[in-house]
Amino acid sequence: MKTKFTQLGFVLAAAGSAVGLGNIWKFPYMTGENGGGAFVLIYLATILCVGLTIFIAEVSMGRLSEGDSVSAFESMATKFSKIWKYAGLMVFSGVLIVSFYLVVIGWIVKYIFEMAVNLPENVDVSAKIFGNFVANEALSQFVFFTLMFCIVFYIVSKGIKKGIEKTNLILMPMLILILIFMLFYAFSMDGFGKSVEFLFKPDWSKVTSKSIISAVGHAFFTLSLGLCCIMTYAASLPRDANIAKTSLQVAFLDTAIALVAGLVIFTFIFHFDAKPSQGPGLVFISLPTLFYQLGFIGKIFGVLFFVALAFAGITSAISMIEPTAFFLIRRFKLSRQRALVIIAIVVYVFGLLAMLSNIESSKEFATFFSKGFFDILDFLTSSILLPVGGIVIAIFLGFFTKKEALEILLKPYMGRFFNIWYFALRYVAPISVFVVLVNGLRG
Ligand code: PHE
Repeated sequence: MKTKFTQLGFVLAAAGSAVGLGNIWKFPYMTGENGGGAFVLIYLATILCVGLTIFIAEVSMGRLSEGDSVSAFESMATKFSKIWKYAGLMVFSGVLIVSFYLVVIGWIVKYIFEMAVNLPENVDVSAKIFGNFVANEALSQFVFFTLMFCIVFYIVSKGIKKGIEKTNLILMPMLILILIFMLFYAFSMDGFGKSVEFLFKPDWSKVTSKSIISAVGHAFFTLSLGLCCIMTYAASLPRDANIAKTSLQVAFLDTAIALVAGLVIFTFIFHFDAKPSQGPGLVFISLPTLFYQLGFIGKIFGVLFFVALAFAGITSAISMIEPTAFFLIRRFKLSRQRALVIIAIVVYVFGLLAMLSNIESSKEFATFFSKGFFDILDFLTSSILLPVGGIVIAIFLGFFTKKEALEILLKPYMGRFFNIWYFALRYVAPISVFVVLVNGLRG
């Protein structure tokens, strides 16, 4: 039998899913690559107008259906339920994401050790160490990837309630405390003003259709939307939980953590006169130099930071696997172990391919259509599958389910905001995301 979350347990689990590498690793480097403030503004607007709308939609679907993703679409459709049920297959996006996500968690774990023994004295040295690790050190990447793969699947095999909820309870506050400390430290540095300006002063000339699609895609990625992950968690939400409040809390926490991480990291970038557009290596390159500056205590902070980051990643990784596992278990009556073996095989193969596509000597082998497999997985999921998944959820809930059921569920918590939400769900979210997608993909 499934046990239910408490309301707090749900907020923690959903926040554990939302707050991950997307906030601390991806958001800063994407902002750097896309010219700063304008990217941040588009991202924030998307979170507010589209992200929150779809977040509430996913929670409502999970809560009303109390089933896996496929049966949620099937049971709630007022018509075409035989077709709509296939929309629930979007859970598989989680399997694609977790494949490259585990590679990055592997890097993070390697950096936990790196911080303890070898802090780089400046950005150049740091960039060299990271670049060499990702492009040449196949064996150690393989070991760390495999280690994290085993740990994550082991945790999911135990069911998510045991351990994970508790882990979140300890580690999320720890992560937040470390970030706040770093924010205060950054505050006293010369780069801070520039960092604020870079993040919040939009330079619209830097905006391209590619940066818009990245910002919108990232809003989905960071809130774990468009793959029925939040929906599956919400299937275990207590009946009397305040859906509006919990959704707001998760979205707020997620956004705040991304912004603080961005502020801290860019302060260091500007302080050391480095370039903000360093790509995926940004966190691995700039932060270690901050820890070096702090002396001995920097080592402790370096280790703590990457430990916290690893756990943030792990709680997200689990939430990418669980919805597919839950679907296979419910739908095909598989045992949890068997469902996980199937998922694990796919993830291991894809994960290794993703890793190999960054390695100099095996690059070609894992490159398709002149794009590395790592980048393909990332682009395909964040920029296409998740936004499309979000559009599908919005159209389904807006036009193919009973409005009364949603009203009864949400009005007590949302009052007159219900109508605004419903309008955003039917029109604003699907149309705006569709337009962005089409323009972005056209180039
Ligand atoms: N939200 C997570 C992050 O920001 C990533 C994620 C995507 C988790 C999809 C679950 C589902 O890192």
